[in-house]
Amino acid sequence: MADAFVCGWPITHTRSPLIHRFWLDQHGIEGTYRAIPTEAGDLPVLFDQVRRGELAGGNVTIPHKEAAFASVDARDEAAERIGAVNTVWLADGMLWGSNTDAYGFAANLDERAPGWAQKGVKALVLGAGGAARAVLHALRERGMDVSLANRTLSRAEGLAAHFGQGIAAVPWEKRNEALEGTKLVVNTTSLGMDGTEALDLDIGLLPADAVVTDIVYVPLETPLLATARARGLQTVDGLGMLLHQAVPGFERWFGVRPEVTPELRELVLADLAEAHP
Ligand code: ATR
Repeated sequence: MADAFVCGWPITHTRSPLIHRFWLDQHGIEGTYRAIPTEAGDLPVLFDQVRRGELAGGNVTIPHKEAAFASVDARDEAAERIGAVNTVWLADGMLWGSNTDAYGFAANLDERAPGWAQKGVKALVLGAGGAARAVLHALRERGMDVSLANRTLSRAEGLAAHFGQGIAAVPWEKRNEALEGTKLVVNTTSLGMDGTEALDLDIGLLPADAVVTDIVYVPLETPLLATARARGLQTVDGLGMLLHQAVPGFERWFGVRPEVTPELRELVLADLAEAHP
């Protein structure tokens, strides 16, 4: 029987057990997936359990994604580019690390806004934190031409330098100027998250066929998405990214590639509604 986990600190809000247990039940797999509250010092202990085959692997969440990146024995390309690990498993006697957030981000848009990714098409990313790194990797893999605006310009410049060609850092005050001709807007800042101030962006400058997406999912419809929808633009919420990023891990640990279905989305939505009435 394969046992998987999600580790982080604190770990009370994770929806990952709900998602993976849904798939375990759906496929009749006798595995387990549990949340293990893990302080920084305990991460090596957990990873050694995977190395010994006592655990099949798991997810790593805040604040351990960078520590996991440094602690695994081998990394796939996405993890290397993003600089953080959110999924670990054992293969060829080594503890492997991947980052499935870029995959989840792209798969969500593929599902909800097919045709969003085209070589040389302009995208604007807001924010330059950890989440932005995964989004930038996904956009560059698809050949998009990215403007990156961040309150602290130096952070955007650092990421542009890290990813190389195809990403231009833009001062926060000039974010509206970058909207002209932009076909995809991605908010990775915390602005608009539950109760915080909304992201101030002049959506009216976007072309009519632009897609606007937010990677947070509480609230499901952020003020940015509500404004974009009111203007008739296509919007994609962040819940699908959470669901899709879980797919590759499940396949590694349990040997079946699961699907993101409307039923799964409804299950997680119901859980979110309970936690955030
Ligand atoms: P994560 O890893 O989840 O992306 P983070 O590293 O804390 O989180 O990044 C949060 C992002 O939101 C950053 O880009 C941050 O801008 P700074 O780099 O200047 O800190 C952005 N952010 C947070 N509050 C903001 C605000 N009031 N106005 C503009 N950007 C804000």
